[in-house]
Amino acid sequence: MCGIMGYIGPKDAKEVLIDGLRRLEYRGYDSSGIAVLDGAELRIARAVGKISSLESLLGKEKISGNLGIGHTRWATHGRPSENNAHPHMVNGVAVVHNGIIENYAELKRELISKGSVFRSETDTEVISHLIDSYLSKGEDLFKAVISAIRRLEGAFAIAVVSEKEPDYFIVAKNFSPLIIGVGEGENFVASDIPALLPYTRRIITLSENEIAKISRDKTEIFDIRNGVQIKPEIKTVDMSPSVAEKEGHKHFMHKEIFEIPKVFTDTMLGRIDRENSELLPDELAVRTMDFSRIIIVACGTSYHAGLIGKYYFEQISKIPAEAEFASEFRYRNPVLKKDDLAIFISQSGETADTLGALKDVKELGIPTLAICNVMNSSIARLADNVIYTRAGIEIGVASTKAFIAQTEVLLMLSLFFASRRGTIGEEERKRLINEFSRMPGILKNTLKTESYIKEIAPRFIRSRDFIYLGRGINFPVALEGALKLKEISYIHAEGYAAGEMKHGPIALIDEDVPVLVIANRGSNLKKIISNILEAKSRGGILIGVITKGDEETKRLLDFAIEVDETDEFFQPFVNSLPLQLMAYHIADMKGTDVDQPRNLAKSVTVE
Ligand code: M6R
Repeated sequence: MCGIMGYIGPKDAKEVLIDGLRRLEYRGYDSSGIAVLDGAELRIARAVGKISSLESLLGKEKISGNLGIGHTRWATHGRPSENNAHPHMVNGVAVVHNGIIENYAELKRELISKGSVFRSETDTEVISHLIDSYLSKGEDLFKAVISAIRRLEGAFAIAVVSEKEPDYFIVAKNFSPLIIGVGEGENFVASDIPALLPYTRRIITLSENEIAKISRDKTEIFDIRNGVQIKPEIKTVDMSPSVAEKEGHKHFMHKEIFEIPKVFTDTMLGRIDRENSELLPDELAVRTMDFSRIIIVACGTSYHAGLIGKYYFEQISKIPAEAEFASEFRYRNPVLKKDDLAIFISQSGETADTLGALKDVKELGIPTLAICNVMNSSIARLADNVIYTRAGIEIGVASTKAFIAQTEVLLMLSLFFASRRGTIGEEERKRLINEFSRMPGILKNTLKTESYIKEIAPRFIRSRDFIYLGRGINFPVALEGALKLKEISYIHAEGYAAGEMKHGPIALIDEDVPVLVIANRGSNLKKIISNILEAKSRGGILIGVITKGDEETKRLLDFAIEVDETDEFFQPFVNSLPLQLMAYHIADMKGTDVDQPRNLAKSVTVE
């Protein structure tokens, strides 16, 4: 939710922190701040708004030093303001925090009763006061941080620096991501890998309940619960710093949409044997195959991929499947059975609702499988099995390429189950596997719809409402198209199952309301055409995603985006691209902040 950066070494800490925070800005961008040990004094700079505001402030303040911590915030407790921005400092000890301290209110009451004076509305400030209270009992910094952490409930990744300890800083983690970058005579910490790539590719991923003391030349890691020292495992990441660059695109979202054909290829690599029309077990082989129902749990865009997955598992594998919002699933005591398989989908692998649901399901002893994009993320590590989507780092807050990769994994998985259970004939399996090979080319072609979309987008920048309609497997695609438009253009958009339109939403349609209909050739086309006619006769502006050459459907529409014909199970891939591009160009023309839309953050690590 928020981004953390830390540095110790010969470089100007302020420069490293700002550079890292820029690369972490997608995690939160309503305020930011740094604390740098300048001589014997910890100097703090904090600003409301994006990192650029902090940079302007630092242009005026002369701060320099070789040890510091920084933070970019997505507000949870307390509105965005300078006082609520991190770091929070008490008596020469500064703290930055990503996560939520659930028992902060009772801790705050206790600390106030003992004389602490709070200056912010944040939950984080209790950590600073707790550390201070243990320091004043005579504990050293390391011990005081451990004592403070033991009082905390909830999720956190923290970094702590003290004026009295100029040779190291401390980080600790429980269910919020934190990685250490190992350099030569310098060390770094960050919430995510892109922040470290310009400096080092050697990383240590902190696990739950670990605390680390970081100095220039060494990193010592301990288990918070028992103080036992842990040998750090350094891994070299194979990523280029350019993953965090726009590489000529105006926005990350645009770059990421254009990466989709490659992402599709990468995600199936080594998982499909095209010659023998087989799916290779690899990680697709879920430990237990002995399940009678699949429950898919996710949030936002990942939930929409899950809805498509439900369709795949039922239609292809013939396994009953449900898709659930993680935030609802957790709190309604769902009836689960030992022979269920629970699948958790998350791009970031850190979403608090999904992670919480996974923990609950694991406690019941039900087999779990994660579909994640971020390697070693909390959800990936906690589930019994993980299948990684290989979408690469997704920086645009609006998820695009990860959605395609998640849906692709679900399709491969459903085919894998179907093969193993004998619910699919050989011919059909071969046909679908062949379609996988055609897909990257078709997706490349689909990106060419951009020029037409750019041409029609100006017509919609003043629209206040949009309706997206789809049927069957394209209903979740309509939901996802509407979500994309909402989140980046701030235009109200609703996705509906096209058949439901006449049961209410049709009342919204008039000449000011564009209706985007997914109307490829296929089993539902006739029914979709009836829905198009219903909307048209109420004066709606009809935009359709249709199959190339379908002149009959085209004639009914005001605007037609033509895509290649493909098997129905693959239509979600082909249809999603124009919807993503449509949202992108409308938002760009409106001049909104496409990559960092208001009020959002890339990964939502709070419930
Ligand atoms: O990282 P996750 O896939 O768990 O994130 C889930 C949602 O927060 C995410 O998909 C969100 O809806 C995106 N902003 C959609 O573009």
